[in-house]
Amino acid sequence: MTVTAPLKHEVKDLALAPLGRQRIEWAGREMPVLKQIRDRFEKEKPFAGLRLAACAHVTTETAHLAIALKAGGADAVLIASNPLSTQDDVAASLVADHGIAVFAQKGEDAATYNRHVQIALDHRPNIIVDDGSDVVAELVQHRQHQIADLIGSTEETTTGIVRLRAMFKEGVLTFPAMNVNDADTKHFFDNRYGTGQSTLDGIIRATNILLAGKTVVVVGYGWCGKGTALRARGMGANVIVTEIDHIKAIEAVMDGFRVLPMAEAAPHGDIFITVTGNKHVVRGEHFNVMKDGAIVCNSGHFDLELDLKYLAANAKEIKDVRPFTEEYKLTNGKSVVVLGQGRLINLAAAEGHPSAVMDMSFANQALAVEYLVKNKGSLAAGLHSIPREVDEEIARLKLQAMGIFIDSLTADQIDYTNSWQSGT
Ligand code: ADE
Repeated sequence: MTVTAPLKHEVKDLALAPLGRQRIEWAGREMPVLKQIRDRFEKEKPFAGLRLAACAHVTTETAHLAIALKAGGADAVLIASNPLSTQDDVAASLVADHGIAVFAQKGEDAATYNRHVQIALDHRPNIIVDDGSDVVAELVQHRQHQIADLIGSTEETTTGIVRLRAMFKEGVLTFPAMNVNDADTKHFFDNRYGTGQSTLDGIIRATNILLAGKTVVVVGYGWCGKGTALRARGMGANVIVTEIDHIKAIEAVMDGFRVLPMAEAAPHGDIFITVTGNKHVVRGEHFNVMKDGAIVCNSGHFDLELDLKYLAANAKEIKDVRPFTEEYKLTNGKSVVVLGQGRLINLAAAEGHPSAVMDMSFANQALAVEYLVKNKGSLAAGLHSIPREVDEEIARLKLQAMGIFIDSLTADQIDYTNSWQSGT
């Protein structure tokens, strides 16, 4: 379909649409689960008459989610969830080929980003699909009067879920929010294998550096850290993990990684990757003892994990050395190389998680939206898990699409699991 009617949008260049269309089609080959959901939505129109605002990384994969939601009848607006993650060709194609109002441009400044959040809310959404909770946070802080319009929201990221929990604790999350991140078919694959692969992809595209033999310090051993450490080891790096959680630290040790406090890891690392969701996990005291030329980057949601203000304040010179690669020449005579301005390196310098994992993440998003709509008015305020049946069905469809079949329990085994009498 090519849409001719002028649609409100802010994208870089509509002439990029053909390239975006081609790349969206390519991604679709790896997204069979979302395709099935989209085909059903097309017939059933579960979102007819509803206004939806989505805040997401505008990638080829998000395009498929937006197209599926629109196929279900939603009147959708899409904004970027990060100033550096937008794929401008995809944004153009969504406007020109699919009639979806997109407000996103790669490299947009903070004021534009915030204006786009306002545009998403000006749409008076009944549903918010969020990635990092910026739209929900703005609604709760400054647009309380619009909460009456809202059926609920869905949240994609660990960071967003942490924010929503804090909102709930303060009593300000007064509507249902679906916790997409905690579905097994989301974080097991997206956070682990998606972040693992795409983070290294971003580092390699930005620097073209050899990972074999390098010391990579992975800061944080949540699902994203686990995947990043695993894949860095797979590329031949010596991996050090830093943690603040005792259980996760034991996991890292037993997964075979060296675990050190950041202050001790700092002088050893060639490359530092932050994936904690917390602020200033790499800061002045660490930068000061790093090797000359150490590379630092972030794959956590927000750009505050590296204390870049400290670096800027202590730099004699900041030099662009390659796209997404800046060298800070410090007053102590050493330099630190920062990738992607400390923003998600996998989306800034690469293309984000591969489509095959986003297929499951976005199947969860699409079905979470449907669940909110089906249960309109009956869900309590606060976070809701993706129903287990939905999570399992996504896994079943994914395996089926991969051509992989598994066993099922025999009647005798079912009886056994339901009984407790027979032991040793
Ligand atoms: N988050 C991480 N990777 C992504 C992708 N490819 N598309 C949308 N959101 C993402």
